[in-house]
Amino acid sequence: MIWWLLPLVSVSDAPSFAADVAPILHRRCASCHMGDKAKGGWSAETYGRLTVPGDTGETPLVPGNPGASELFRLMASDDEFERMPSSGDPVPAEELEVLRDWIQGGAEVPTEQQDVSLAELSARSTRHAPAPEHYAHPLAVTALSFTADGQRILTSGVREVLAFDVTSGRLVHRYGGLPQRIHSIVPEGEGSIAVAGGLAGSAGELRRVALGGGEVAPAVDVFRDLALGVAVSSDGTKLAACAADGSVACYDASTGRRLWKSELHTDHVADLAFTATGEFVITASRDHSAKVYAAETGELWTSYTRHTQTLPDREMYQHAIFAVATGPGSDRVVTAGEGGEVHVWEPRLYRAEDGTASQMETRFKAKSHVRTARLSGGDILDLAVTADTIYAATRSGEVVALDARPEGGLKATVLMSRPGDACFSLALSPDGERLAAGTSSGRIFLWDLLVDPSKAPAEPLLIVRP
Ligand code: HEC
Repeated sequence: MIWWLLPLVSVSDAPSFAADVAPILHRRCASCHMGDKAKGGWSAETYGRLTVPGDTGETPLVPGNPGASELFRLMASDDEFERMPSSGDPVPAEELEVLRDWIQGGAEVPTEQQDVSLAELSARSTRHAPAPEHYAHPLAVTALSFTADGQRILTSGVREVLAFDVTSGRLVHRYGGLPQRIHSIVPEGEGSIAVAGGLAGSAGELRRVALGGGEVAPAVDVFRDLALGVAVSSDGTKLAACAADGSVACYDASTGRRLWKSELHTDHVADLAFTATGEFVITASRDHSAKVYAAETGELWTSYTRHTQTLPDREMYQHAIFAVATGPGSDRVVTAGEGGEVHVWEPRLYRAEDGTASQMETRFKAKSHVRTARLSGGDILDLAVTADTIYAATRSGEVVALDARPEGGLKATVLMSRPGDACFSLALSPDGERLAAGTSSGRIFLWDLLVDPSKAPAEPLLIVRP
């Protein structure tokens, strides 16, 4: 076990299946009761499986009656020849108590957890060590968001999200219980936020945090590597997340149940967004493609593969895509990444252009609807878009505004240039009146968009260092 992962100990009375029971059964029983070779013909892979009797035909679980539940009877047995686990240490008394209380209380399991593996439920219940009290060094702002009321700015901390008052820049709240690194934060209505993060190379999580505070809920989902992005559909009914392990998943926002998961990308999925209508989920990946999924089913609708550049020394160079943002009110998609490339396109028009014109010649003759620009500041790491403007943040420390109106020609205006201070994150306030940018030196810059931003250079508002 990694040092910062501690088992979750619930403080409430009724044990929860995901947070309390699943970790015990997984830890104590899984080694012999998994897969095809499950001993005694009994499997502890999921709740659904563990209710099915094994070779003896005894009922493993009788809600309300621990004594009649074979799985509990064997765990609690004094007879060491029948006691489970069949070898090794018996289950400690306090864990038996959790199992007894859970069965006594009716052995409740939410429907959406019944077919999820106990391994995954246990991972979702991981409890993280507390956040550091003070930060010795400023922390790179890898994630940034306004709250739904626009009053606070939320930023990434170590195992926490920090909330600052927009006007005073004062730190007003710290939300702990989160994974080591935070890569994406989005508001989900007034009361809560969804957060993606993890530990590079080993684990990712999608969590929900109640802004009112309170106990940390188990993760909505876990990944094999860092979770890098999270998005909420504009009607608030769906949530989607993507990770460095190449996966993308979509959830019912009210229950947290996973609707679909796709693993078609072959490299980091750095960012994702719903289109304004909520019809599609669009991803941005280091594998050089942006994919369009039907939000309802997860079916791949099309892959956008035009982030390429022809260099003098090579035939064609493919660019990694690091960011995606979708336009308000239209199906417009903006993708950006390596080489300072910004592409503006629409899923329906793109599929029609690319899919139906099978003849290369016809395809090249047809005028494409895709608009592109290349910024001189190098790799684009994040995007924010309004109806008229695209804001881009670059690795070389620039924030650039592009005129996205049909007549604007994507003309670029540099709003900020801080060489050597990579700009990782951008956020627009819900009313579209403010833009915030977070940099690698831990600074957050704020613009009032009602004033012409090119004429009002931003001052650092806050330095993230509690
Ligand atoms: C070291 C391997 C091992 C571990 C760990 C283990 N079991 Fe078993 N279990 C067995 C074997 C082997 C059998 C087959 C019967 C026997 O040989 O006792 C069995 C049988 C069972 C059965 C009876 C199935 C049937 O109806 O025939 C249940 C229920 C059971 N185990 C529950 C558990 C529980 C609960 C745990 C965790 C607390 C657990 N086991 C851990 C090896 C193990």
